[in-house]
Amino acid sequence: MKLSGAQLETFRRDGLLILPGLFSADEVAAIRAALAPLFEEDCDANIREKTGAVARTVMGLHQRSELFSRLVRHPRLVEPARQIAGRDLYIQQVKVNVKAAFEGDVWQWHYDFATHHRDDGVPAPQALNLHILLDDVSHYNGPLYFIPGSHRHEPLPTFHDVTSTSYPLWVVDRETVTGLIAEGGITPAIGPPGTVLIFGDLMVHGSPGNMSPWDRAIFSLILNPVANAQTAFARPEYKHHTDFTPVVALPDDCLLAPHAAHV
Ligand code: SIN
Ligand code: MN
Repeated sequence: MKLSGAQLETFRRDGLLILPGLFSADEVAAIRAALAPLFEEDCDANIREKTGAVARTVMGLHQRSELFSRLVRHPRLVEPARQIAGRDLYIQQVKVNVKAAFEGDVWQWHYDFATHHRDDGVPAPQALNLHILLDDVSHYNGPLYFIPGSHRHEPLPTFHDVTSTSYPLWVVDRETVTGLIAEGGITPAIGPPGTVLIFGDLMVHGSPGNMSPWDRAIFSLILNPVANAQTAFARPEYKHHTDFTPVVALPDDCLLAPHAAHV
C-alpha cells in the first residue's frame, strides 16, 4: 500500500495522517483475539494503571505472540512508513495502550522523541508511530489529541513526570502547550476500529482519562531508521527493542491467511 501525494503533503503539513478503514473488521477481530491472553500474563512488560486494577500498556507483543510478529511486518504499516522515513527501518517498540473503561488514565502532553532521545539516546526525531484503533474511538473514551503543526518546531523543552501516572514520561509544560494549541488547535483521533494513525517523533499529543463505559485499545508500532538507532541501553528490551535488522513487509493477507513462510 502506498500513500498518495496528497496524503504525503497532509502528513508534512499537519504531522498526522488519519486513515479510516485500513484494517477490516475480521483483521481487527484477529488482533483482539491474540491480545486477550496477553493481558492475563503477569510480567514486567504488562504495565498496570496506578490503581493496579487494569493494564495500562502491554508491550513487546511481537516477541510474545505469533500474530503480533506478523502484524509488525504488515505492508499496510511498513510500506507507508518506508515512504516517509526511508527504506531501512527497525522495530523500536510494539504495544497496545489499553485505556480501559472507567479506569484508563491520562497520557500527558508529550512528544515521543523526548523519551527516545533522553532515555534511549536516539540521535534525531526520525521515528514514526503507527497506530491501529482496536475499538470504536469517540470523543468520550479517551481519544488521542494531536496538535497539528507542533512537529514543525525544534524539540521543545520537557520535564520528566514520574508521578502523574504509572508510566514515567518526558512531558511538555502547560505554557508551551497553550502556545502550540493557539497556533494549531487540537485534532482528536476518533474513528471506527481498523482506523490507522501515522505521526512522527516531534508531534505533540496526549489523551484524557476514560471515564466512559467503553474500552479504548490502540495498537502502536514505532519504526525507526536503522541509521538513527538508539545509543543508550538503560531501558528494558520491551521499551526499546535492540534488534536493528530492517523490517521486511509480508504479503497483504498475512493476518488472516498466514503461510508457513510468514512465521
Ligand atoms: C495513548 O494511548 O493515548 C497515548 C499513546 C501514545 O502516546 O502513543
Ligand atoms: Mn506518545
